This record gives sequence, C-alpha cells and structure tokens, in this order.
Amino acid sequence: MKRTHHCSELRPAHAGQTVTLEGWVHSRRDLGGVLFLDLRDREGRTQTVFDPSDLNAAVFDRATRLHSESVIRVTGRVRPRPAGTENAKIPTGQVEVMATGLEVLNDAEILPFSVDDPEVANKVNEELRLKHRYLDLRRPEMIRNLRLRSKVAMATRAYMDEHGFLEVETPTLFKSTPEGAREFLVPNRREPGTFYALPQSPQQFKQILMVAGVERYFQLARCYRDEDLRADRQPEFTQVDIEMSFIEREDIYALIEGLLKRVWKTALGMEIPGPFRRISFEEALNRYGIDKPDTRFGMELVDFTEEFRASAFKVFAGAIANGGVVKALNAKGLACATQGQIETMTEYAKSFGAKGLAYIKVEGGEWKSPIVKFFSPAEKQALTSKLGIEEGDLVLFAADQWLNACEILGKIRLYCADVLKQQGKLSIDPARFDFLWVVDFPLLSYDKELNRWYSSHHPFTAPVAEDIPLLKQDPKKVRGQHYDIVVNGVELGGGSIRIHQPDVQRTVFEEILQIPPEETQLRFGYMLEAFRYGAPPHGGIALGFDRLCAILCGTTSIRDVIAFPKTAKGTCLMTESPSPVTPRQLKELYLEVKTAKS
Ligand code: AMO
Ligand code: AMP
Repeated sequence: MKRTHHCSELRPAHAGQTVTLEGWVHSRRDLGGVLFLDLRDREGRTQTVFDPSDLNAAVFDRATRLHSESVIRVTGRVRPRPAGTENAKIPTGQVEVMATGLEVLNDAEILPFSVDDPEVANKVNEELRLKHRYLDLRRPEMIRNLRLRSKVAMATRAYMDEHGFLEVETPTLFKSTPEGAREFLVPNRREPGTFYALPQSPQQFKQILMVAGVERYFQLARCYRDEDLRADRQPEFTQVDIEMSFIEREDIYALIEGLLKRVWKTALGMEIPGPFRRISFEEALNRYGIDKPDTRFGMELVDFTEEFRASAFKVFAGAIANGGVVKALNAKGLACATQGQIETMTEYAKSFGAKGLAYIKVEGGEWKSPIVKFFSPAEKQALTSKLGIEEGDLVLFAADQWLNACEILGKIRLYCADVLKQQGKLSIDPARFDFLWVVDFPLLSYDKELNRWYSSHHPFTAPVAEDIPLLKQDPKKVRGQHYDIVVNGVELGGGSIRIHQPDVQRTVFEEILQIPPEETQLRFGYMLEAFRYGAPPHGGIALGFDRLCAILCGTTSIRDVIAFPKTAKGTCLMTESPSPVTPRQLKELYLEVKTAKS
C-alpha cells in the first residue's frame, strides 16, 4: 500500500475511490464513539474517519490509542462529508476518508507543545519552539515560509541565468580582514597561531572573479558576522550576491528592479511598478531622519534653522550658533500623550544622544509646552504653517548637529508611528511595498574617537568621478558610487561601483583610511596585485536573502524564514551549539582556554 494522494488533493470527484494517505495525526476528535483523525502532510490536511461499526476492532482500538503527531498510513474510501459537516476553510473540506486500514509507522510521545494550535507562535515561548524546531517547522505557516523561500531562490537563479550570470561558489574558509563586523575565526591545526576567517561576504572573491573575466557572477552566498543580533540580523545569513563587469550604476538598478519584479510576481502574484524612486542620502536624512526611510506614511521632518536662528529660546538659538540645526515633526493625533509618555519618549531620544526633546501639545485650542513662552509670534506662525499644526497634534523638536538632529527625530518618527498604529490612528496596507533606491552616500565617515576616516560602506567603493579631486582636500564631501535598495523601511541590499584602478585603491587604503603600507600589503596585497594585470571596471550588489523572504512572508523576524536560526545570544538551542570541545581537540589546534566561563 503506497501513498496514492497527498493530504491536499482529495475532492468530491474522488468519492468512491480507495486511497492511501500518509502523514502525521494533526488532531483527533472522538464523537459518539466515532474517531475523527485529521491527517496532515506537507501539502495539507484530510479528515479520516474511524467508525467501529464497520472496522476491524483491533484497528479501531489501535487508532484510539494514537497520540497527536504519530506517523500513520491510512487506507480508506473517499466519500462526501454529510451535509452540514463540510469545512470551507480547507481545500479537502468537502470530503472525508472512511478508514478501512491503519498502519502505525511511528508513535509520537506527548509533545512539548501542540502543533495544531494556530496561536502557537504567540502562546509558546520562542526558546521552546527553537529547541524543538522540527516541531515548530511542522506548523503550516512555517512550511509555507520554507516553501516560499525555496521558490524565491529558484526564481532568483532562473532570472540570473536568463541574464547571463554564472553561479560561482566562493570559499567559506577565508582570510581575516578585520574591518566591519567582528569575524568568526577558525584555527588552523597545520600552523599554530594561524587562522581562517569565515567571510562576512564574498566581496573580495567576487571582485577577483571580475578580474578573472567571469563578467557576470552571482551566488546565494552564506555570510558570517559576529555582531549583536536582532530580529533582522543573524550571525550566519544568506545574500543574493552579484557582481558585473563593464557596467554603471544604472545597469545594477535595472537588473535588481527586474529581479524584484520577478520575485514579487512569483511569490505573491503581484505586479510591482517601476522604475523605483530614488532619493539621495542627504534628502533621506533631511526628510525621514534615516538612510532607510519607510515612506508609507508622512510625518516628515521639517527644518526650522532659519526661523530660530535669533530665537529667544536659547536651546535652539545656541544649537544653531554652534553650527547645528533645529528640526521638528508633527505627530498628528498624539496630543493625548501623557506627561509620562513624553518622558519615556525623551529618554528614548536621549538613548540616541539627544540632549532633550522639546515638544508642543495642541489641546483645547492651546499650545501646551514649557517652551512656547519663548516663541515669538513669527516663530509660532512659521511652525503652524510649515507643520500644518492643528488641534490634537504633538510637535517634537531636536536641536543639534545636522546628522544627530535628523537621526534623533528619525527614531522618534518611527516610535510615534508605532504608537499611532497601536492606537488605530495610522494604518498601513500590508500589500503595500515602497521600493526606494538610496544614492549619493558619503564615501567616508569620520570616527571622532579614533580621529580618522573610515569607509561608510567598504573600502572598495568607487568615489563619484567628479569628486575624486576632493579625496585629499575635503574627504567628507566625496560621494561614493554606492546604492542601497530599501523597501518599507528595511535595508534590503546595498552595493557599489568598485575602484578598479590599483593606484586609486592604494590611495584609499593608505592615505585616506590610513592603513599602514605593510598592513595593506598583508591584507589586500593579492587584490592590488590582481588589479595590476587587467581589472575591468565593475560593480555589484548584495541583497539580504533572509530579509527579502521575511518581507515576502509578512514577518518582521528573519528567524521565521530560516530553518535553523540562532537565538539573540547566537546559540542553536536544538543542537546546543556552541559547545565545549575536548582538551585533546584544543591541543591539536594549539589552543588553550584561559578564562573559564563564570
Ligand atoms: P552589506 O554589508 O550591506 O553589503 O550586506 C548586504 C545585505 O545583507 C543583509 N545583511 C544581513 N542579513 C541578515 N543578518 C545579518 N547579520 C546581515 N548583515 C547584512 C542586509 C544587507 O543589506 N559585500 C557587500 C555588498 C556589495 O557591495 O556588493 C555587503 O555585504 O540586507
Ligand atoms: P531646558 O531649557 O534644558 O530645560 O529644556 C527645555 C526643553 O527643551 C525640554 O523639554 C528639553 O527636553 C528640550 N531640549 C533641551 N535640549 C534640547 C535639544 N538639543 N533639542 C531639542 N529639545 C531640547
């Protein structure tokens, strides 16, 4: 008796047929001596009925002793369900299988949590679910996520293949290049004190592949970063990693827009309009206070630097005199915030470096605020007209250096949006996807503590050609040929046109980033050498594949789209890794553990 159908397949047209189904006992109900077992496999569910009046007593008895999630094979005849007992919620809900035979393939013990409860994700703590991930993955929505992820991977490969890309695998035992995130190291037993590092991305290999003449490369690449984890970050994750030769930024935009259109169509059956909007880094910061703006709602930041330059409110005038700016946003409908809530918001702003969070509540036709008394009629007029202030509004201010002021209000904007969503005052269509290219990033950022420049993205990003002369004169003005693709406030991916001239690359390493020549040689010597033997102009991008799948699945946590994710502490609760190793293993690797875990 082999399986004849999946549990998703039977319809009234199958009535009268004898079928065999295999799967897990999803749920069981005992109704007046008749046993109903819902059988589930990867594809769906089918109701099977064990009626003692026309079943062998031993078979019936065995069925009554089955626990949920036992694995069984059921043979029986399909029949339409009696009128009134159909289940419109499942595709097989019109029929049931009258069991004639049962084989128990494996009994399941009592489960640590129930798989058939649609509320499992909310009721059972995530740690328990991760410990028994194989049970968690049996939930239909998790299977749906894995299926969607697989489909998106297939669609991506097909699209890249159609566009002439070669899939090339690059090593995951790589060399340590300590910049960016912290790396995972792998000790080398053949030479004490030497280590491989797991790659943070295949960046250097993919550039070398361009020097090798591959012209168009892609890979669903596993990347490793030992950084603080959050809902959208895992220590190992997957990128759709891409590199192309003889191209400009526009070519990457067109390629990725085409890829995302294909993916949205395949996964969600949705047409997404293009070309995608573009916004400069500066405009994104000015209007949304963040370089990955969620443009599905307004609440934009407005500049009031000119209006408050000579203000009697010294906090504002002082910040401006110091070269800073004053920015404000209007959280419409949030005047109901209590003093305590405003304090919480102020503390939140302070955790991002704000010195305070001035506010105005508009209630009962009055501006309630400790600072309004300092405002002139002209200042009030400017606020009213530029922010469209009305009854019920809450206006929030940041006075600081430009980047700080923008970023603080950017966080507050998202915070207020969350509160407004909870209060039902802001609703966003879940089927809305705002794609955005963020461009014209500064090539370099300044580290005040270390007193030096560092690459905003990575040191291989080419400067915008006309800004090259500024590299040594005024580094902060140099724009990089970098781009990020953002959707609904999530940074989906980023990339750049690369430096392909060895002399420009060496200048960036040694003169701008101040990496000593010996170190440059040690870390990047092979790359600089490769570039001397004919490196084509090239550029690329990497999309966070887990983030892409999470967005498509409508979840905010990438753990929901990774079969075996790690916890926020970087552990796998199922296999209990990382774990200690034996003294012998350590010895073989010439390693000694100095600090025992306290
Ligand atoms: P970047 O560091 O911006 O660029 O990474 C590209 C994309 O990878 C995703 N991502 C992550 N996803 C899950 N967990 C993480 N810890 C994590 N870190 C990054 C993000 C991000 O946008 N080599 C360059 C690309 C290039 O220049 O071509 C790179 O890795 O979605
Ligand atoms: P103070 O005069 O310091 O008591 O501040 C008056 C109000 O301005 C308080 O609500 C502070 O939270 C706020 N405030 C102080 N510094 C800043 C700043 N740099 N930006 C915005 N608001 C501020």
